[in-house]
Amino acid sequence: MRFALAPYAPHGFFRFFRFLTILTGCLILFVIVKWRNSPDISSVPRFPPQRIPEYVCPCNLTSNRPIREPIFLPNEIHTESRALILVESIYSRHTKMIAQIFNATKYPHQLETFSKSLPDLITGERGRFSVIIVENYYKYLNMQSWNRQLIDNYSKRYNVTIIGFMTSKINEVYQHARMKGSNLVMWQNQKAFNLSFSQESLVPYIARPEVSIQSLIPDYEDWVLFEPQKNFETVLACEDAKERPRAAIIRDLGAEDGVKRILIGHNVSLWIVRLGLLDSLRFATQGRFGFSLDRWIQIDIDDIFVGARGTRMIEADVDALVEAQDRLRKEISNFTFMLGFSGSYFRNGDDNEDRADEKLIEMASKFYWFCHMFRHNHPLEHNFTYLEAIMYQNKMFAETMKIPVPFKYSISPQHAGVFPVYQELYDAWRNVWDVKVTATEEYPHLRPASDRRGFIYKGIQVLPRQTCGLYTHTQFFHTYPDGISRLLNNVFGGDLFSSVLLNPISIFMTHQQNFAHDRLAIWVFENLIRFLKCHTRLELRWTDPISSADRYFKMFPQEKTPIWSNPCIDARHRTILPPAFNCSNFTLPNVLIVGPQKTGTTALGQFLSLHPNASTNLPVNDSFEELQFFGGKHYENGLEWYIDKFSPSSTVFEKSATYFDNTEAPIQVFTLIPNAKIVVVLYDPALRAYSWFQHIKAHNDSVALSVSTMDEVLEADDGPLKKLRSRCISGGRYVYHLDRWLEYFPSSQMVFVDGEMFKERPPIVMNKLIADLELPSFDYHNVLRFSPSKGFWCSLTKGKMNCLGKGKGRHYEPMSETLRTKLNKIFQPDNAALQKILQKLHLPMPKWLRSSLYNTK
Ligand SMILES: *[C@@H]1O[C@H](CO)[C@@H](O)[C@H](O)[C@H]1NC(C)=O
Ligand SMILES: *[C@@H]1O[C@H](CO)[C@@H](O)[C@H](O)[C@H]1NC(C)=O
Ligand SMILES: *[C@@H]1O[C@H](CO)[C@@H](O)[C@H](O)[C@H]1NC(C)=O
Ligand SMILES: *[C@@H]1O[C@H](CO)[C@@H](O)[C@H](O)[C@H]1NC(C)=O
Ligand SMILES: *[C@@H]1O[C@H](CO)[C@@H](O)[C@H](O)[C@H]1NC(C)=O
Ligand SMILES: *[C@@H]1O[C@H](CO)[C@@H](O)[C@H](O)[C@H]1NC(C)=O
Ligand SMILES: *[C@@H]1O[C@H](CO)[C@@H](O)[C@H](O)[C@H]1NC(C)=O
Ligand SMILES: *[C@@H]1O[C@H](CO)[C@@H](O)[C@H](O)[C@H]1NC(C)=O
Ligand SMILES: *[C@@H]1O[C@H](CO)[C@@H](O)[C@H](O)[C@H]1NC(C)=O
Ligand SMILES: *[C@@H]1O[C@H](CO)[C@@H](O)[C@H](O)[C@H]1NC(C)=O
Ligand SMILES: *[C@@H]1O[C@H](CO)[C@@H](O)[C@H](O)[C@H]1NC(C)=O
Repeated sequence: MRFALAPYAPHGFFRFFRFLTILTGCLILFVIVKWRNSPDISSVPRFPPQRIPEYVCPCNLTSNRPIREPIFLPNEIHTESRALILVESIYSRHTKMIAQIFNATKYPHQLETFSKSLPDLITGERGRFSVIIVENYYKYLNMQSWNRQLIDNYSKRYNVTIIGFMTSKINEVYQHARMKGSNLVMWQNQKAFNLSFSQESLVPYIARPEVSIQSLIPDYEDWVLFEPQKNFETVLACEDAKERPRAAIIRDLGAEDGVKRILIGHNVSLWIVRLGLLDSLRFATQGRFGFSLDRWIQIDIDDIFVGARGTRMIEADVDALVEAQDRLRKEISNFTFMLGFSGSYFRNGDDNEDRADEKLIEMASKFYWFCHMFRHNHPLEHNFTYLEAIMYQNKMFAETMKIPVPFKYSISPQHAGVFPVYQELYDAWRNVWDVKVTATEEYPHLRPASDRRGFIYKGIQVLPRQTCGLYTHTQFFHTYPDGISRLLNNVFGGDLFSSVLLNPISIFMTHQQNFAHDRLAIWVFENLIRFLKCHTRLELRWTDPISSADRYFKMFPQEKTPIWSNPCIDARHRTILPPAFNCSNFTLPNVLIVGPQKTGTTALGQFLSLHPNASTNLPVNDSFEELQFFGGKHYENGLEWYIDKFSPSSTVFEKSATYFDNTEAPIQVFTLIPNAKIVVVLYDPALRAYSWFQHIKAHNDSVALSVSTMDEVLEADDGPLKKLRSRCISGGRYVYHLDRWLEYFPSSQMVFVDGEMFKERPPIVMNKLIADLELPSFDYHNVLRFSPSKGFWCSLTKGKMNCLGKGKGRHYEPMSETLRTKLNKIFQPDNAALQKILQKLHLPMPKWLRSSLYNTK
């Protein structure tokens, strides 16, 4: 037993290292001496490997029929990739479960309650939804006939399938009914026997047909069953109590009324229904909602040397681990356990456990290893220098022990410092291990697990990590919290099963204790895989974390940029808060003036800051004195950069006119300050476009200078002029940009300012604005004055006029009538749509928009 640490240390850390090395050396010596003197065996009783029966698939899997891939027509896609989910209540458990499936798979969706008005189904000629989910089909059947027609007409016109859930109604013991307006016959409150996906149906894809699922359905009584018949295709077949053939999921081919439907006779609590829903979605959207059959599974064993005496692995457990890995390799190609090590805790158990540690080192090459943290340190408690030092120590440990650390992957103890980000951790990782990939459960939040996402920060790719219900405190099956059946449900169709089903890449977290004693983790994963292989056609694979990260961000490129949230409102995040955050001194704006550009927002911001109860950010030098944080280059500097700019006040506002038409801004703003009021200036877009053109001309834009009038820009159909044209126009397409804000913010948080009114009578507009922002009253007539020489309004402080610089309120030739007509024509459809939206939201209409010009009836 001669494991000495090499007296090596990088330049600059030498003294520190020598100290630690000596310390570690002493520790090892002490352990060795102690070991020689008397056997040291923990008094904690050991529990034998678990005795829960293995899962046996009720079917012969060797008769694998080839996958019948439906041939999806390469037809032109007339709908956006989005599901409309119509629900009875957004708070119901069933709604939540459906939403979680969509959140986990990241299929875009919009949740709406059945109400008087449906959301717009069409924009222009395009359908906004590629599939419609009806959470309660009875509601759809009893819908107002106009709305029902709207949906059915939409479905027919765009070849959009309606997927509806029919569940048994409480207190209706037996009901045999012909469905309203259809020949379909159904029965409620039925028992379903011998369920299996149909081999004839084109819908099953992940689901493996022919496997009888009977024995695994706990509450099989509450089905709505359908009678198989002409013009309908049975997707999930079964028998009723009298052994008559029935369908539990049926596809309406649309022969009766032209509307294609898939009806599901149970709720999504059952895993088989979830499977059916996923395959139905894939089928209905012609593959747009659906992944391939590949599922990548990585199992990390954190804390391989960390753990209390008596709970750790012994030699037999190490052998069992290797054997389990060999068995798993038959099911998961190339499968290898990833072991996270904290070198300081090597041989820190009783004698039997220490021998297991040594055995692990002897067998090191059978596994892949990754750095955890030398003393399992919580990174947030240490500065960069110290973090670097302990990482070097762990690295020296790996070199001395010759354990393979082939991938630039690391996990932080308790995921601390990964999110909310602690830059020092990222820097130290890069310097010592050149880490490229890590994983966390904490982004954006621990719960719900279906919302976990990845991101890239400082070049390190952070993947979502999944939990499998095994923690350091759940090592024994006989003491599993709330009983082992909870874990079994997890494996057989519950969260763990769903995790693999819904995520193309699953990285699971386990701990060495889960492989000790009763070896619960081995049982869990082996049986999960037996179950998956039995009921699905998923191809289970293993790949290294670096390749997984590549694959992940290729599949979900939209997740690359992290989206900052307020760490102080998440109880978990508050416990892993980097030192720079102080929740009792944390200021974020609660009002955001978002633009658009060239609509007088600078003056609006300046005037608002005259209010004694409103404060804004400190001035910054670049980007026209605007912070331009959301959707801009400063966003990657992180939250600290932003909060540093504000000081506490009852109303704190920020103005950056670039936010309005930025595609990233709405979600980034919403995630950080969901309760903020969003101020938008609505200025006649024709005037705005003209002003914008004059603005860039004044800034010597060569393209703008190359033409004599703006008319030439509007006529351009290629080259740089066309680009200029679209830049000129796009900012004024208010509805188009507003839609994105309204996706996140309720209309009650949106404050619209009439841009022309503001230009003409700012005191009136400001007085109204502060009322809308619920600020104490303050009369702007006293602080704003019109400057005849400047031609615009200025602020009056201490008797002195304070006017904006020369770039503002620029004078130029008024717009010609012909140009006005042309611009009006360009903006007409957008303005008409804006009018409609404002009407629908009962919001005041700017004067310019009220003009008869846009009355299109
Ligand atoms: C499973 O199917 C194979 C091939 O069809 C057959 O040879 C074998 O006997 C079957 N086994 C059982 C247990 O039915
Ligand atoms: C699904 O149906 C079963 C049986 O009727 C019921 O016990 C369960 O609560 C339902 N689940 C949801 C989420 O509504
Ligand atoms: C789904 O995700 C959205 C957006 O992240 C979130 O607001 C919502 O609460 C999630 N729904 C559920 C049921 O988790
Ligand atoms: C649906 O389509 C039918 C037939 O084309 C038409 O008569 C009906 O007015 C439409 N209903 C609605 C609400 O658009
Ligand atoms: C279900 O399948 C089994 C075995 O094939 C058969 O004996 C039984 O009659 C079927 N039907 C019902 C209602 O159990
Ligand atoms: C309509 O959608 C179905 C899937 O729901 C697809 O099989 C079919 O090819 C589509 N037809 C057309 C004309 O796009
Ligand atoms: C297993 O890994 C090797 C190299 O690491 C690779 O060549 C091979 O394709 C992998 N096998 C599968 C089935 O993925
Ligand atoms: C970092 O932390 C160590 C130990 O906690 C301390 O000795 C050292 O002075 C700190 N370094 C800096 C730069 O703060
Ligand atoms: C956090 O801010 C509060 C109030 O501003 C202050 O009293 C406290 O000392 C700060 N805490 C830390 C750790 O800086
Ligand atoms: C607003 O500012 C005035 C003057 O500074 C102050 O007296 C008042 O308390 C403030 N009101 C609020 C609600 O902050
Ligand atoms: C609160 O934070 C601001 C900005 O970060 C800082 O200037 C101020 O000193 C802090 N106040 C306290 C009491 O910590």
